[in-house]
Amino acid sequence: MLLLSVETTCDETAVAITRNGRQVLTDQIFSQADLHAVYGGVVPEIASRSHVEVITQLADRAVKEAGIKKTDLEGVAVSYAPGLIGALLVGVNFAKSVAFALDVPLIPVHHIRGHIAANYIAYPELEPPFLCLAISGGNTMLMDVRDYTDMSVIGSTRDDAAGECFDKTARVLGLGYPGGKPIDELSQTGDDKKYDLPRAHIEGHPYDMSFSGLKTAVINIIHNAEQKGQEIDKPSLAASFSAAVSDILVPRTIAAALELGYKKLAVAGGVAANSRIRRDFTEVAGKEGLELYIPPMRLCGDNAAMIGCQGYYEYLAGNTAGPELNAYATLEI
Ligand code: KG4
Repeated sequence: MLLLSVETTCDETAVAITRNGRQVLTDQIFSQADLHAVYGGVVPEIASRSHVEVITQLADRAVKEAGIKKTDLEGVAVSYAPGLIGALLVGVNFAKSVAFALDVPLIPVHHIRGHIAANYIAYPELEPPFLCLAISGGNTMLMDVRDYTDMSVIGSTRDDAAGECFDKTARVLGLGYPGGKPIDELSQTGDDKKYDLPRAHIEGHPYDMSFSGLKTAVINIIHNAEQKGQEIDKPSLAASFSAAVSDILVPRTIAAALELGYKKLAVAGGVAANSRIRRDFTEVAGKEGLELYIPPMRLCGDNAAMIGCQGYYEYLAGNTAGPELNAYATLEI
């Protein structure tokens, strides 16, 4: 089944063409990061307008690069939640128009289900059930993935998402937006034990997480140093921070996999690109005899190939929509 897929949840406009879920014919991504960098974060109005400006050309380019005709397409999959509502509406309305014009099914895809599906593209042999930690800019959740379209959240953040915490910490360190990658790069030469940072636990909820205390601790260290006129060792603060985030994520995920009896463990989302988190997962999963799946960097961030992949499984499960499809800023997975 040949699908056109569309992703506009935040600041990437993406269009892909996939065959039978896992084969990616083309994966076009236009990042708006430069447009937002000057503001230190995503400006929703600018994001929506930029999606409108580029989405048609991106889809035309995708069709050309895939070497197909528009009429070969057999369905249109689209991220319809969660995300910035104005941004989502651009993608949803574009997908509706294409599906209507070609008279093919319209397939709504939950963005986080898409992130999980990035692993199916990277690992053709991977099939559910497995446990998945989804860590992105807006979401941090531990998922019990029983089947392609049957999954539930067993733990999640009580406050900031892991990516949000990276971005806010990067801002106070003067590293710009988005901040995950620069923190990762800076941390490479730092001492991860130099700064003592908190790792929160939530009493009675072993799989839930919290990042706001960690973020505040970093801000306090920086403000205290500024007031006393002391220098901050930025690489070491970045390394200590990355170690703390990893310590919040990795042991919980491993414990959940072992307690629920899973042999397969997947990680997904933009923060899965982090080198410290990848290294810690690889080490601990190896020790515990768990099979670990982490997508390559390009498939960690927002892209439309993952939406096409999950869209195929949603279609097989009968999950299609009519022209009344709406977009949702928040939605249960
Ligand atoms: O999945 P994603 O592209 O977008 C959402 O669906 O939210 O994730 C974006 C997040 C941003 O917060 C970004 O700073 C973070 O992923 N990120 C990283 C790294 N690369 C991107 N965080 C930590 N280390 C990285 N190397």
